[in-house]
Order: sequence, then C-alpha cells, then structure tokens
Amino acid sequence: MTVAKRIDGKAKAAELAESITKQSAALLAEHGIKPGLAVVIIGEDPASQVYVRNKKRTAEACGFHSVQHTIAADTSQSDVLQLINDLNNDDAIHGILVQLPLPAHLDEQVITQAIKPSKDVDGFHFINIGKLTAGLTADAFVPCTPAGCMLMIEDEMGSDLSGKNAVVIGRSNIVGKPMASLLLQANATVTITHSRTKDLPQVVAAADIIVAAVGRPDMVKADWVKPGAVVIDVGINRVEKTVDGETKMGLTGDVDYDDVCTVAGAVTPVPGGVGPMTIILLMANTLRSARLNCGLKG
Ligand code: GUN
Repeated sequence: MTVAKRIDGKAKAAELAESITKQSAALLAEHGIKPGLAVVIIGEDPASQVYVRNKKRTAEACGFHSVQHTIAADTSQSDVLQLINDLNNDDAIHGILVQLPLPAHLDEQVITQAIKPSKDVDGFHFINIGKLTAGLTADAFVPCTPAGCMLMIEDEMGSDLSGKNAVVIGRSNIVGKPMASLLLQANATVTITHSRTKDLPQVVAAADIIVAAVGRPDMVKADWVKPGAVVIDVGINRVEKTVDGETKMGLTGDVDYDDVCTVAGAVTPVPGGVGPMTIILLMANTLRSARLNCGLKG
C-alpha cells in the first residue's frame, strides 16, 4: 500500500514567517514603517474568535503593528462603515480585515466593498477580484486561503501546471472561485464543482490536483482519487471524534485523510495544512501593502 506524503503547512508557514519577520524588521530600520494590520470582529462567533486570536498573535510575532476591533453583534451598519472609513484613513494601518461571517443584519457586500482596495489584504474587493480574474495576479491582493493552497501545490508540482487537471470542490467567493483563477493562471485545466454537480466522484477521479472546500467532513474518499494526485483540504469541520474509547470534539477536513493517503501522492492534514498557510499569507499581503505604501516593490 502506498502512503501519500503529508504536506506540512505548519512547517512551511513557519519558514515564511521567518522571512516576513526579517523583511518587516528591515522596513522598520530602513523606512521607519511597521506593517499595520487591523482586524475587525463583529459579534461572538466562537470559531471566528479563535481565527482572529491566531491572526493577532501571528501579526505580533512578525513584528507588525496589530490592532483588533471587537465590536458588539448589534452594531449598526453605519457604525461599522464609519470604523472602516477611519481605518482607510489611518496611515499606521496597511491592511484591514473584517472577519466573516457577519451578523445577519449587516450587508457583507457593502462592508467588504467599503475597504480601500489598497488595504484589502483579504482580496475581497471587486478591484482585486477583477485583477485576479483578468490574470493580473502580481498587481492584486489575492485571497489568503487560495494563495496559501497555491504555494503548497507549486511545492509539489512546480509553478507550471500545463497538462494537469485540477478539480476545485466548492464555488465560494473566498476559496473556490479565486482558487480556480489561480490554477487557471498556472495553466491547469480547471473544473469547479459544487452541490449541483452530477457524478462528483467521477469528475474528481480525473484530477491531478484536488482542492476540497465545501465544509462536509471526510467527504472525499480514496476511490474518488487518481493515484498520485495532490490533495489540498481546505475544510475545517468540528466533529465528535472517538480516540481510545473517549469521545471528544475535534477538527476534521473535507477529505478522509487516512483513506485518501492510501492512493494520493500528497495530502494536506487538518489541522496543520491549509490553516497556518492562510494566516501567514495574510501577513505576506499586509507586508506587501506596507512596502507598496513606501514606494517599494511589493
Ligand atoms: N472567515 C473565514 N475565512 C475568512 C477569510 O479568509 N477572511 C475573512 N475576512 N473572514 C473569513
């Protein structure tokens, strides 16, 4: 039985963190600028609180100016827009992120589009989506999760994916659609699948690269996977897990890791795969924004 390589996102993120920390220190020494990241969290979604805490901790570890705005779930849309306006005009802030999902009374589209494109380190502004879709990746802020997935895919397969079939499972604006744009730009032949796709396992079986981002625990099985395929698991699902007869809450991805490892060439684990890469790409985007702000190359 073959055993796939475990793609260590945590180790790769740590390497990138070292380089970002050095570049951040150099920017401060040579230009007197600290990259500044503002994270806005509205309400008390427990998963969002964990993500935001990790983002703040990582920003501080990279030597950034890190600001967190924790605001009440019932804050009005105009108050949120006022805060974004203040951050847009704050010279110490180079990156602004409003953690999603938002409470139901807030309009996600209006709020994400209020962030200045040059501080949109999430890559959710239409200007950045447009640049990415038009193939101007070098000039865009690319959403952090797909950008992190792409770095791991490049490590396994190189930067030119000519002749490779890539199947993205999930069509979200945060992951599925930008992931497909990045893969296409790297010359892969890309299929985006979703809940209405017919014969999903057969479509996935043609893939040399699988990116699963649907939020269904352990959905992708070994018999969906072409031997040797590279499998990137974006899912973070909270499930009950039984270990040594004890039932606990744990995290699992959208890929049945142990099963898929018997067939695939390389697979990202959950946790320790895509998650740490997403956070470090947010730092890379913030550093880039600060450098561009100083008139330096991103
Ligand atoms: N919620 C889940 N993923 C993300 C992300 O990448 N950015 C923001 N702003 N919210 C999220």
